[in-house]
Amino acid sequence: TRSPFVDYDYLIKVVVVGDSGVGKSQLVARFTRNEFSTNSRQTIGVEFATKTIQVDSRMICAQLWDTAGEERYRALASAYYRGAVGVLLVYDVTNPKSFQNLAHWLSEIKAFTIPTCQVLMVGNKIDLKGMRKISEPQGKTFANTNGMDYVETSALECLNVDISFTTLVRGIY
Ligand code: GTP
Ligand code: MG
Repeated sequence: TRSPFVDYDYLIKVVVVGDSGVGKSQLVARFTRNEFSTNSRQTIGVEFATKTIQVDSRMICAQLWDTAGEERYRALASAYYRGAVGVLLVYDVTNPKSFQNLAHWLSEIKAFTIPTCQVLMVGNKIDLKGMRKISEPQGKTFANTNGMDYVETSALECLNVDISFTTLVRGIY
C-alpha cells in the first residue's frame, strides 16, 4: 500500500548524457510531456523532469536529469551522476562526432556511477533518413561491445521514445 502523500512506490534517478545537440532535451520532453520543439535551447547545467511509470505492480517515479552536453556547462558533472541508478547515453545517428565521443561519455559514466548503474545507449534522429551516417549494426555493435543495450529513436516522430526509457527503468527493477 502506498502513502496517501505520494503516488509512487520508488523514486529513481536517471541521468541523460551525450554530446550537445543530439536531442536529449527533446527526448525528455517527448517522454514526459509528449512535446517536441524544433527551436530547442541548449541546456545549461541540468534540467529536471519526472515521469511515473508502472513496472509490474509497482509505480516507479523516474527523476530525469537532463544534462548539458556542452563541455563548458559541465563543471558539476560528477554531481549529476551521484545516486543515479540509470543513464541514457544518447548520440545522433547523423553526427559521427557524437558517435565517436561515446567512449568519452562511457569513461565519465564509469568514473562517477556505481557499478550496478544501468546504461542504455540511444541512437536518436532516425527520422533524418537521408542524412544518417552511423548504421544500426554499427550502433548496436558498439553498444554490445561495451555491455549496453541499444535502441534507436526519433523524438520528432515519436519513435521508440517510451520504449527506451521504460527499458532502462525495467532493467533497474
Ligand atoms: P544540449 O542541451 O546542448 O546538450 O543538447 P540536447 O542534446 O539537449 O539537444 P536538443 O534536445 O536541444 O536538440 C537539439 C536539436 O535537435 C533541436 O533543434 C531539436 O529540435 C533537434 N532534434 C532533437 N531530436 C530530434 C529528432 O529526433 N529528429 C530531428 N530531426 N531533430 C531532432
Ligand atoms: Mg538539452
